[in-house]
Amino acid sequence: PVEPVLSGKRILITAGPTVEAIDPVRAITNFSTGKMGYAVAQAAQAMGAEVTLVSGPTALATPLGVKRINVTSAGEMLNAVMQHIEEQQVFIAVAAVADYRPTTPQLHKIKKQQQALMLTLEPCPDILAKVATLPKPPFCVGFAAESENVLEYAAQKRLAKQLPLIAANLVSIAMGGDDTQLTLIDDQGQHALAAGSKLASAHLLLQHIAAMLAENR
Ligand code: C5P
Repeated sequence: PVEPVLSGKRILITAGPTVEAIDPVRAITNFSTGKMGYAVAQAAQAMGAEVTLVSGPTALATPLGVKRINVTSAGEMLNAVMQHIEEQQVFIAVAAVADYRPTTPQLHKIKKQQQALMLTLEPCPDILAKVATLPKPPFCVGFAAESENVLEYAAQKRLAKQLPLIAANLVSIAMGGDDTQLTLIDDQGQHALAAGSKLASAHLLLQHIAAMLAENR
């Protein structure tokens, strides 16, 4: 039995990778499976929240009771998030949004050549940073997956994106697997959570969020 500590809360979650078209048959993406974001969505729903999940392409089933909006690119993810952000109390950005996208996706398939091919990339919009700096932002939570110096980078990201809370984890443990270990960083410092399944970790994260909301932090 899960206590409904998030009942009445509307929570928007992003999950999965984004896919940025190079041409009609090729794209830039990453190895995110969406498992962590889907676990957060499932746990939030179980804790009584009304959950909207904006998801990049994944092979995962939609958690029961969760409203899912499918997107492909970072641009589409940003639009879907902005369309629904106003009514949300909490925004949790778990998606592995591509950092760069081709500046001008080609309308026709690029033909194979003998010489090197140059692609010009531009930064994708930072969805979380945009939401966190809205005039009346929801409670914003970021994820930081790093391959080294996790806690240091995560703490920097929390400040740079103006987030009350960020969850840090090691790519080597988390990526693709069913288990993870999160360290939460907030205004009071670091909180290392127990290692375990992504679903169990999601429950611990959401307990922490519920406590911060209750304390108005
Ligand atoms: O990519 P980065 O390490 O900066 O991601 C940190 C957080 O920001 C994650 O929560 C991720 O979902 C979010 N993010 C985003 N839009 C981006 C890049 C990251 O919402 N373009």
